[in-house]
Amino acid sequence: LGIVSERPPFADYQFGIYLAGLQGELPEHPISAAELERKAAEVMTPEALGYVAGGAGAEHTVRSNRDGFDRWRIVPRMLRDIGRRDLSVELFGRTLPAPIFLGPVGVQSIVHDDAEIATAKAAAATEIPMVLSTASSNTIEDVAEANGASPRWFQLYWPSDRELAASFIRRAEASGYEALVVTLDTWLLAWRPRDLSLAYLPFLKSIGIANYLSDPVFRAALEAPPEEDPQAAILHFVRVFSDPTVTWDDLAFLRDTTTMPILLKGILHPDDARRAIDHGMDGIVVSNHGGRQVDGAIATIDALSGVVSAVDGAVPVLMDGGIRSASDAFKALALGADAVLLGRLYMWALAVGGEAGVVALLRGLLAELDLTLALSGYRSFREVDAAALVRDS
Ligand SMILES: Cc1cc2nc3c(=O)[nH]c(=O)nc-3n(C[C@H](O)[C@H](O)[C@H](O)COP(=O)(O)O)c2cc1C
Repeated sequence: LGIVSERPPFADYQFGIYLAGLQGELPEHPISAAELERKAAEVMTPEALGYVAGGAGAEHTVRSNRDGFDRWRIVPRMLRDIGRRDLSVELFGRTLPAPIFLGPVGVQSIVHDDAEIATAKAAAATEIPMVLSTASSNTIEDVAEANGASPRWFQLYWPSDRELAASFIRRAEASGYEALVVTLDTWLLAWRPRDLSLAYLPFLKSIGIANYLSDPVFRAALEAPPEEDPQAAILHFVRVFSDPTVTWDDLAFLRDTTTMPILLKGILHPDDARRAIDHGMDGIVVSNHGGRQVDGAIATIDALSGVVSAVDGAVPVLMDGGIRSASDAFKALALGADAVLLGRLYMWALAVGGEAGVVALLRGLLAELDLTLALSGYRSFREVDAAALVRDS
């Protein structure tokens, strides 16, 4: 009828909750991140909990990622017409509704039976893009189907077999993934005391290797199909999982293999960010893998500004590590991130409520982000920079 329908402000989600309250209904899913984490710890097996919550070494970096946010404070500004907000962000030619991604988290079936399929459906329901891990419990193709027309990226663990790497990339392209996120911090599995104490590594139980078992190149290298000889398939997975000899010059292989934009995940040093651009990379994800790789590594919120300055607007810079609320996201965006990725936060939601749990988390987070932006005096993250923050002394 000529009326352009507009998405209601994300903030309105809270009125639905208050209105339901008038009928005596309380929210089905936890509202606060702390409550979500508590509930998740109740429903997960000790092995899964250790795997998801745990980090490298004494978990200093897991904690630093969180503490880093607390050292920054938002200084809200007043009387600036915040009646209409636009949280959208443009990345690689796509307009996304908000600067939030579901980051790559592998082996989601240890958290919930519906695993990455639930995540993909929740992402589609909220239009929040997801990044699928190579180490997923569901295949590239099945996740794409569940995710429908929603934007999705593929995260690559670069295997030692180049043909296999090319095959993963081809499959991702054929299934409508729009960017390649190459993880650089996990050529070797770090020393993770919680997993070691329980002698637990899901991949050795054939969990989280669906993309390998379904891959024509991987299967062709086996003497018998994985269905007949699962042990041999797992051993082959361990052999090909990673190539710790990769260096900057090898990025040319990826550049020649795909037309997708390529982002490097795990960059923490400004010089590495500059090198990424020199090597024709299209984006950077500042990440320390949630403190799961190098204990004592710099908190990502502390690494962000240096990387942003080094990149100087040449390519998008995303970040992850310790995002648990809208205010964390606001601070990262103010310090120059173009978007943030969620990790453990949405694993807790998946554990507690499956697809519906992740949808509730995202709707709540989007509402809180909209409110935080508005109440801080801004209508768009394009207006927000480091001047919105002070460092706590
Ligand atoms: C259980 C778990 C599995 C993960 N799997 C992957 C993965 O397969 N690929 C990857 O690039 N990062 C992986 N990550 C790292 C996340 O992408 C992200 O960097 C990290 O979770 C951010 O920290 P946060 O969860 O504390 O916010 C994983 C993290 C967790 C907690």
